[in-house]
Amino acid sequence: MTRLLIRGGRILDPASGRDEFGDLLVEDGRIAAVGPGLDAREAEVLDAEGAWVAPGFVDLHTHLREPGQEYKEDIGSGGRSAVAGGFTAIACMANTHPVNDDPAMTDFIIDRAEHDSPARVYPIAAATKGLEGRVMTEMIALVAAGAVAFSDDGKTIMNGGVMRRVLEYSNLVGVPVVVHCEDLTLVGDGVVNEGPASTRLGLPGNPAIAEDLHVARDVMLAELTGAYLHVAHVSTAGGIDAIRRARERGVNITAEVTPHHLTLTDEETLGYDTNTKVAPPLRSKADMLACRAALVDGTLDAVATDHAPHAQYEKDQEFSEAPPGMIGFETAAPVVLDLVRTGEITPLELMRRMSTNPARILGKPGGNLAEGQPADIVVFDPERSWVYDAAKGYSKSQNSPWDGRTMTGRAVATIVGGRLVYHVDRGVLVP
Ligand code: DOR
Repeated sequence: MTRLLIRGGRILDPASGRDEFGDLLVEDGRIAAVGPGLDAREAEVLDAEGAWVAPGFVDLHTHLREPGQEYKEDIGSGGRSAVAGGFTAIACMANTHPVNDDPAMTDFIIDRAEHDSPARVYPIAAATKGLEGRVMTEMIALVAAGAVAFSDDGKTIMNGGVMRRVLEYSNLVGVPVVVHCEDLTLVGDGVVNEGPASTRLGLPGNPAIAEDLHVARDVMLAELTGAYLHVAHVSTAGGIDAIRRARERGVNITAEVTPHHLTLTDEETLGYDTNTKVAPPLRSKADMLACRAALVDGTLDAVATDHAPHAQYEKDQEFSEAPPGMIGFETAAPVVLDLVRTGEITPLELMRRMSTNPARILGKPGGNLAEGQPADIVVFDPERSWVYDAAKGYSKSQNSPWDGRTMTGRAVATIVGGRLVYHVDRGVLVP
């Protein structure tokens, strides 16, 4: 029997509401006991004094680029970067090359992840063939192969009739449809948020209304069809308003927000740093504050990174030419910890939005420290100060606006299925 004792941490278990100091014992891959003064006999001991012991973070929204763009990332490097950030499970989007729109591809991702990734990997399949927004994928076969949700993320399904059918058919398989909400006719050539920043930059603006309108459309279609809708990377006050009102009417809908939309505004783009280019774009301060308030009040359920690696040469272009996206695994937790420091949210509630809620949305275990649960755990030191050097990170890409910045808070150990897969002093330990 293998035993691991995590000793003397602040146990934060959102599933039970537990927030108290104590030990956590792992036996044979599962949580065996939680409480004060547990017996350490024959156990490997991990000191967690001064740290939080929480369910491993679960990321609803990542881009792992394999197959097809392994120069940006692959399932192994993405998984290593994830555990270095405290994530024990990650869901990956379908915009690979080829697209994950058939069961063989879903199967390939699962197989590759089992061999290469220390984090659990859950594939999200495309909602339409080739992400073209025209012909639906074979949802039943994809779910049978292991797809946990459907999404054309990176692209909006502009055709309302197709979107309605995707939602109707998703009812047959009972998994969420994850929507990227940007009306492309309103986005136009926009590359930064439309407003004073786009004017000062002299770059075409991408207006908030492009997102507001599509969130409203998809919420109404979810209401019509009774399907389960999950709104990806919400960034506007208008989108949040549509979600909040739909929730009040009982629509089956959840939503996520990224660390960057919680903490950065379009002011960050003023230096033309292409690492601040992301879709949807960094918005106004009012939008950012609305995102923070909505995460706190539960209108937005989860923090999701939208980890989107791109190569240096791709980002080294004019702002309008560079691809959108930023990497996010290793900086997510320290970045969102800002909401704890300001007193907007408690550590327990932040952990809920990083683990329990996303696990529930995916319909997967995790986010729970009860006895008998799989031992997916993060030991997180909220006071640890460090300088983020993207070149020393585990992702193959370095496109982060936080590169070189001093961070407070860091995952010090990550455990997946009872195995210590990452320790801050030893690095990623498997595979
Ligand atoms: O910024 C983004 N990058 N947003 C998306 O929706 C897609 C992603 C990517 O694949 O690079």
